Amino acid sequence: MRTRSHLAMSALGVIARYEQWLPVTAATPRITLGEGATPCVPSRVIGERLGLGSLHFKYEGLNPTGSFKDRGMVVAVAKAIEAGAQAVICASTGNTSASAAAYAARFGLRAGVVIPSGGIASSKLLQAQVHGATVLAIPGGFDTALRLVREVCDRSPVTLVNSVNPFRIEGQKTAAFEIVDDLGDAPDVLAIPVGNAGNITAYWRGFREYHVAGRSTLLPRMIGGQADGAAPLVRGAPVAEPATVASAIRIGNPASWESAVAARDESEGLIDSVSDADILDAQSRLARLEGVFCEPASATSLAVLEKSVASGAVAPGAHVVCVLTGHGLKDPLAAATRVDPPQEVAADVAAVTAALGLG
Ligand code: F0G
Repeated sequence: MRTRSHLAMSALGVIARYEQWLPVTAATPRITLGEGATPCVPSRVIGERLGLGSLHFKYEGLNPTGSFKDRGMVVAVAKAIEAGAQAVICASTGNTSASAAAYAARFGLRAGVVIPSGGIASSKLLQAQVHGATVLAIPGGFDTALRLVREVCDRSPVTLVNSVNPFRIEGQKTAAFEIVDDLGDAPDVLAIPVGNAGNITAYWRGFREYHVAGRSTLLPRMIGGQADGAAPLVRGAPVAEPATVASAIRIGNPASWESAVAARDESEGLIDSVSDADILDAQSRLARLEGVFCEPASATSLAVLEKSVASGAVAPGAHVVCVLTGHGLKDPLAAATRVDPPQEVAADVAAVTAALGLG
């Protein structure tokens, strides 16, 4: 259950809560939809099985639009309003577009989103539509969509709110602050999915800023997870046709490539890839053993952590935080591949009792 102080923090939102750490001025509107202040859920089963000192899940699916994107979006939209913008645009694998659409709707901007046709999860598409964004589906993947919207922004008066917008990264670093504020120090290891690579960049910045300011005694090793079929940072080269069940991270040429590699190397961490089966298994374990439902891309962080423990790259006893970037309800079709259909039973007590094994 959330505490009173958590409720108060999310009512503040990340701009008001962390304004001294953010590039805001007196003229920046203190807007919020209640993003941030997400819980660090302690693992009940998995951490112990892995032999870790502790394991927490930073449950970012509990943000207003169901993903971590809201932290960066609120800052990007506030700065856009401050600059007098009337419209925002983004390319997206789904969550950025859902977040942009919601914040634009709330704060009176027009939103345009460009998505890979047929390439994003159904709930994310619906979010952009229901908030009134103009949704354009293009042939090609996320990388093509991002190239396109960058060119549009060069020509037209519209603000780009992908994570190449520096205010997005600034807002997203607040998740690292919250981890330190909640746990009392930085963990030894942060496990995080990597797609366009903005978020690993943001966490690393947040941890460093808090460390420099004396708010934490250590810096975590950053362990990034990609899907085998969409692992440009692991291969060291762009992937022309990225393929994975984790559609949120189906990205072949991440925009924040250099800063992700810097986060990995400066933190003495690693970026590795895992199979789609491992991702779906990890998603299922989180749901069944921990009661935490995240989308497939998010479960990549647990899958890569498990792989790293097995290989010895993460030592027993380590204190780990695993970032779960988006809610499981974002992508019902992916999760549905791993569950049993409901049992059809007669509407009588004997049949229900027998089917429940209570007979
Ligand atoms: N997890 C989820 C649920 C995401 O939606 C994304 C990215 C990532 C992880 C990876 O984060 O790109 O900062 O490395 N989604 C973007 C989008 C690309 O358009 O919604 P990243």
